[in-house]
Amino acid sequence: MSESNRVWRLRKRPVGDITDDVLSLENEAIPEPGEGECLFQLNYLSLDPTNRIWMSDIEQYMPPVELDAPMRGVVCGTVIKSNTPAFKEGDIVSGIGSWADYQIGSPETVGLLGDTGDVPVIDAFGTLALVGPSAYFCLLDIGEPKAGETVVVSAAAGAVGSLVGQIAKIKGCHVVGLAGSDEKCQWIKDDLGFDEAINYKTENVPEALAQACPNGIDVYFDNVGGKILDACLKLMNLFGRIPTCGLISQYNTTEPVPGPYNYDLILMHRLKIQGFIILDYMDRYPEATEALVRWMDEGKLKARLDVSDGLETALQTVKKLYTGENTGKLMVRVKDV
Ligand SMILES: NC(=O)c1ccc[n+]([C@@H]2O[C@H](COP(=O)([O-])OP(=O)(O)OC[C@H]3O[C@@H](n4cnc5c(N)ncnc54)[C@H](OP(=O)(O)O)[C@@H]3O)[C@@H](O)[C@H]2O)c1
Repeated sequence: MSESNRVWRLRKRPVGDITDDVLSLENEAIPEPGEGECLFQLNYLSLDPTNRIWMSDIEQYMPPVELDAPMRGVVCGTVIKSNTPAFKEGDIVSGIGSWADYQIGSPETVGLLGDTGDVPVIDAFGTLALVGPSAYFCLLDIGEPKAGETVVVSAAAGAVGSLVGQIAKIKGCHVVGLAGSDEKCQWIKDDLGFDEAINYKTENVPEALAQACPNGIDVYFDNVGGKILDACLKLMNLFGRIPTCGLISQYNTTEPVPGPYNYDLILMHRLKIQGFIILDYMDRYPEATEALVRWMDEGKLKARLDVSDGLETALQTVKKLYTGENTGKLMVRVKDV
């Protein structure tokens, strides 16, 4: 075990984009687990758009990270000391932790990753810990797609969106994705089997959507909010569903967000819009895991990781989520397992 513990601490609440002075990397003593706790060494750190939400003190679904506290993250690590019967040395755990080499866990914050079979731990963590179940439950429970319907998804080449589009294809839907580059559009069409892809940065989105969705939109899986949500509202069919998974286009804004301007169509077209937070589905994880692993084994679902090496890269790497530089699940590898 190395003698010191690198810990990223939140020093400032970001205003607009995440800047270099928002976090600082400190060398600290390795903590000692108390009764009912374990000490684990970080293997992989998931980087998620919600990190920006946790850094701020807006009203949110968990308490914000306190100033000067370790930055919160979704983590995967190996237990090296345990004072709880829940975990033993060598166990691989995942859950909510912090951006630190060594950290304390308890059954309230982390759980066993479980037997991942032939699936490498990095893939199991990257796909099954957060984004896979989010795509699965938010699309199927809230979106309720039916065969033959049209499903549109934004941030379609991202971790959640790329899975949503493929699950909608498995369910027999016509699937249209919006992404921020021609390479991403080509990947989701050619490799993932989306029917249509729209580069929202270069194309006229309302026109391209109308062309790609000749029968209107039944489900718009919203990862971004803003102008894309407005454009989709205009094309929603009667009794259409809009599962709201994320609003990344507005996480870094400093001014109040306008619209949506087509709000009246929620009434006229009897639309259902429902917010989703994965924490509400923790007890149903086995159902998502079983389906996702089966589809991956059958070659129907491909998941792509976008991995940066070294805990020291975490701050620069997390910024990629907001500039669109990532494709697939963004994470940091600290120590392979
Ligand atoms: N509710 C939950 O429980 C839950 C769980 C996981 C994730 N989420 C949400 O799901 C969404 C996707 O998360 P993820 O982890 O899969 O991240 P991701 O899609 O892998 O990465 C974020 C992507 O968002 C796109 N983006 C960034 N700024 C944008 C903007 N202004 N307008 C449109 N697109 C923009 C970028 O792709 P382009 O190159 O295409 O722009 C970027 O690659 C996020 O909103 C996140 O908060 C919610």
